[in-house]
Amino acid sequence: MLSEIAAKLASLLFCKSAVLLFGDLGAGKTTFTRYLVAALNGDPRRVTSPTFTIVNEYNAKMKVYHVDLFRLEASELEELPIEDYLESDGVCVVEWPEKLGSYMPLEFFEVRLDFVDEQHRNVEITSKGGKFERLLKNRGEIFVKI
Ligand SMILES: Nc1ncnc2c1ncn2[C@@H]1O[C@H](COP(=O)(O)OP(=O)(O)OP(=O)(O)O)[C@@H](O)[C@H]1O
Ligand SMILES: [Mg+2]
Repeated sequence: MLSEIAAKLASLLFCKSAVLLFGDLGAGKTTFTRYLVAALNGDPRRVTSPTFTIVNEYNAKMKVYHVDLFRLEASELEELPIEDYLESDGVCVVEWPEKLGSYMPLEFFEVRLDFVDEQHRNVEITSKGGKFERLLKNRGEIFVKI
């Protein structure tokens, strides 16, 4: 279940960690964020697509900065304080991280969501960077596909 996988990832998150959500339109990136916020004791009903606002902020066990870059032009990237979110008191969750270009963080958890059919998605979680890789290695079962 997507909610269980999100809860497992939530248990590994720490302040200043980044979660990059890859997947096509409708793959479930916002849905996954909702489960992540719920697992961090935030209110999942507040989680909506920040497509027009670019960033939503949720109060949870840690602050969650939910960024959606879908509509962002490359020229607008430098105005987006993405580095501030990554150095903040919370977790930074990014939809459409492909758009980050040179602003891509060096260390992160990566979630890949793929459409299988209306009700099913494949989920794969990997990581980049020492601390992130160590955390995930200790929880091998998180490399789940459904
Ligand atoms: N197993 C599943 N996991 C995730 N979403 C599912 C699943 N089954 C059905 N859905 C539905 O698929 C849709 C996923 O939409 P969601 O907004 O989360 O995608 P998204 O990747 O954020 O899209 P966008 O790129 O437009 O932001 C929702 O309507 C959700 O209810
Ligand atoms: Mg979305």
